Amino acid sequence: MSTLVVTIVALGAIAWFAYLVGSGSRRDRQDPVPANLSVSQTDDEMETRRLDRALVGAVVTAGFLTLAMPIYYLTELDRQEGFVDEFHEASLERGHEVWLEFGCGDCHGANLAGGVASFLEERSQVNVSGWAAPALDDMFYRYDRDEAMFWIVYGRANTPMPPWGLEGGGPLNSQQVEDLLNYIESHQVDQTAALLKVDGLLAGALSRREGAAEVVGDQIAEQEQLIETIRTSGTSSAALGDIAERARYLLDGAAEGIDTDGDGLSDVTETGLTAIFAEAQAAGYLATAVTLDPRNAETLIGIGDATSAATSVGDLESGATSLTITFQNQDVLAEQAGFGLQFLRAAARQAHWEVDVQAVADASFGGDAGAADRAVNLYNAYCARCHTAGYSAGPSFQQPQASGALGPSLRGGRALTQFLTAEDMYEFISVGSTSGVGYGVNGVGSGRMPGFGMVLSAEDLDLIVQYLRGATLDGSEYLGEGG
Ligand code: HEC
Ligand code: HEC
Repeated sequence: MSTLVVTIVALGAIAWFAYLVGSGSRRDRQDPVPANLSVSQTDDEMETRRLDRALVGAVVTAGFLTLAMPIYYLTELDRQEGFVDEFHEASLERGHEVWLEFGCGDCHGANLAGGVASFLEERSQVNVSGWAAPALDDMFYRYDRDEAMFWIVYGRANTPMPPWGLEGGGPLNSQQVEDLLNYIESHQVDQTAALLKVDGLLAGALSRREGAAEVVGDQIAEQEQLIETIRTSGTSSAALGDIAERARYLLDGAAEGIDTDGDGLSDVTETGLTAIFAEAQAAGYLATAVTLDPRNAETLIGIGDATSAATSVGDLESGATSLTITFQNQDVLAEQAGFGLQFLRAAARQAHWEVDVQAVADASFGGDAGAADRAVNLYNAYCARCHTAGYSAGPSFQQPQASGALGPSLRGGRALTQFLTAEDMYEFISVGSTSGVGYGVNGVGSGRMPGFGMVLSAEDLDLIVQYLRGATLDGSEYLGEGG
């Protein structure tokens, strides 16, 4: 191999040398004419063959460039789009992580389809558990991106929805909020599915209206029970404290004495604790009384007796502690609970959830009770959480329909004052408000009124408009009761 290379190089060198020598001696012999003095091509030749060749060359080059530039440009676009896609994917992933980390799905449903939250209601001082957290999988049909961002950054004060953005006092920076929005946006259902939700939501609104009296009755009973617990917390904390102490004493001495089943608890401890747990349950301090069998190390299948015993004794002790705290704050708590009970009783008397459907039908729908019923349910399912004070907190807190909350009151002929025609009003409800942009006769939007044109059919929007413009929302009973 290397000899071959050496041979080639050597031959090449010899040939080169021979050429130099040859050309050197040729130059000696000739007397070269300088190029500028020699005869070149004639004008004829220049203007035909040569010019043609130059032109053809130019055309070919131009053609090449014409093709090459767009091809380059297109692949470059693709490449950049690839980057954008990649960034977007990464953002969705981060958004999902934020969604999980901050528990959005605990309230709004893991699949974004909506859920409920619990909350201590300001007005009533009653703890409510069924505050509706709206579906977010159709949010972008109702809000534009900035409006959606507003709710996430600032939350909605006086509801379970906390502020999440730094500007609102929450933990998320603007990048994280953008990621969340991208994540939510990528989980929007298609519009047909959004429209198909209507019937389910209306059925929910109807059953809530029909079951309201019973729900409030249950809440009153619970509140009375709570008041009783507070009233007797002095004696009960002492009694439960004594029970918990005896149980702890037995558990601490569990290593002494005969232990038939070898579970670390002596037979005496097991029978003694079983009796104490039964006593606590009978007195209402334990929901269930665990039985410990001295001849069986796992009386509850899958849970060792030592664990069962420790858990129940812990429950007794923490129950005693919380009763003691209740007793220490007895006066404040009793006042608060008493206030809540009065609130609930007044709500039960007023029964604002009740709607005289036939009256609505006669006033606004030419006697058509079916249309009136649907209109009322539509209003409750889609509008009440912002326009009926207390609606989200449950039927007991309901103020009169459409009495105003985050959004203005729609009673007392307000709809007729603000919107001179039903068409204007329809248009507004369909597209919603825009921050800083006027609407109706004297409204100025904040961007917080959603648009419903993509989630409700034209017929349903018409029903709502007709209902709100009707005479049944005149507001007289609202003004009469003073809310
Ligand atoms: C403790 C429960 C809870 C948690 C956690 C929660 N939300 Fe909410 N959210 C609510 C409730 C309740 C509402 C509706 C308030 C109202 O109008 O009554 C709401 C409203 C919203 C709205 C406005 C929707 C609309 O249709 O008006 C958006 C957007 C939203 N939440 C996004 C989020 C995101 C994103 C997270 C997680 C970072 C989150 N929420 C965490 C309870 C919660
Ligand atoms: C997320 C809260 C929210 C929901 C849900 C909501 N609105 Fe509103 N609405 C508002 C706010 C806030 C305003 C005031 C305008 C603004 O701030 O942009 C408003 C204004 C209005 C007005 C104008 C009132 C006036 O006198 O200026 C009408 C009419 C109205 N809403 C009807 C509806 C109807 C009908 C629905 C249900 C299909 C509905 N709203 C659902 C928040 C809401």
